[in-house]
Amino acid sequence: MKKIFSSLVIIFSLLMASCTPSSEARMVKSGEVWLDTDGNMINAHGGGMLYHEGTYYWYGEYKGDSTYWNPRVPSWECYRTEAGGVSCYSSKNLVDWKFEGVVLPSEQEDVTSDLHYSNVLERPKVIYNDATKQFVMWLHVDSHDYGKAASGVAVCDSPTGKFEYLGSMRPNGEMARDMTLFKDDDGRAYHIYSSEDNSTLYISLLTDDYLRPSGHFTRNFPRAFREAPAVFKHKGKYYVLSSGCTGWDPNQAQYAVADSMLGEWTVMGNPCSGKDAHITFYGQSTHVLKVGEESYMAMFDRWNKTDLINSRYIWLPLTFKGDSIDIAWQEAWDVKVVIGK
Ligand code: DGJ
Repeated sequence: MKKIFSSLVIIFSLLMASCTPSSEARMVKSGEVWLDTDGNMINAHGGGMLYHEGTYYWYGEYKGDSTYWNPRVPSWECYRTEAGGVSCYSSKNLVDWKFEGVVLPSEQEDVTSDLHYSNVLERPKVIYNDATKQFVMWLHVDSHDYGKAASGVAVCDSPTGKFEYLGSMRPNGEMARDMTLFKDDDGRAYHIYSSEDNSTLYISLLTDDYLRPSGHFTRNFPRAFREAPAVFKHKGKYYVLSSGCTGWDPNQAQYAVADSMLGEWTVMGNPCSGKDAHITFYGQSTHVLKVGEESYMAMFDRWNKTDLINSRYIWLPLTFKGDSIDIAWQEAWDVKVVIGK
C-alpha cells in the first residue's frame, strides 16, 4: 500500500511538472504602461536598442512632463515637451528594464546649446565602434520649431554614460530630422535620415570612427516623405521600415528591400497585419532589433500627442516568408518567441 501511495505521489508530481512552464512566461503587452524595475514608467521614446556583451541597452527620448502646443508653428500640430535628454535602460531578457539614468542630459542654463531643454532632442540611436571602443550616439537635434533640422553626435566609453556631446551638423549639407543608425557585419556604419524637408530619405556612410559622414550617400524614395526609419539585415539583404509623414498621428508603414545599403531599394508595401494594420497599430516605427541570426522584434511608438510622456510602446515579432516580412498584431506575446529562452 505504501509503495502504491509513493508511486501515485511521483506520477502526480510529474504531471504537475509537465503542466507548469519550464520557465515563467514573460509577456510583452503593447500599448500598456511599462514600468522599470524601480516601478517607474519607462521614459524612452523614439528609441533604439543596442545588444552588447549579453545585455540589451534601450536608449530613448527622456520626455518632460509638460506637453504644450507650440503656437510659433501654426502650419502643423506642433505639440512639444521640454527635452529631458536621452535615457538608457538595461535588461537581460527584454522585459525587466533597469533605469541606468539619463546618459545625455539636456542643458538647463545655456540657451545657445543644442541640448537646451527648449529644443527638440529625438530618436537617439547608439552603436559600438569595435576599433575605437566607443559607444557612438547620433540623434535628431532641432530648434523648438523644427527649423534647425540637424543631427547631433555624442560618445562614451561605457554604454551607460555619461555621453560627451560633440556637436551637431547638417550631414552632407542637407536637412536631417528622423533618423537611425545601422552597423553592418563588415563594421561599416550608416546614418539614415529624412532630408530635404522630410521628402527624401538619405543613406549616408559614416567615417570609420562613426563620428562624421564619409561623403558617400544616396538619396532614396525622392518626394515620398518617409519618416521614422528602422534598418536591419536578413540573409544578406537590407530592409528599411518607415512611416509616412503625418506629425504625431499614425499612418501606414512601408518597407523596402535592397542588396546594398546604398540602394537601389525596392518598395514592398505594408508589412503590418491584423487589427489596425493600416495605421501601424496606432504606432510609428523606431527600431528593429535582431536577436541571433533569425529573430527580429519590431519596435514602434504609440504617440500620445497631447501628453507625450505618456506615449506607449508597441513591440512585436517580425517574421519572414521568403523575402517578405510580416509584423502581426498581438495583444500579448511571450518574449521567448524572440529571445528563445
Ligand atoms: C514625426 C516624427 O517621427 C517624430 O519623431 C516627431 O518628430 C514628430 N513627427 C513631431 O510631430
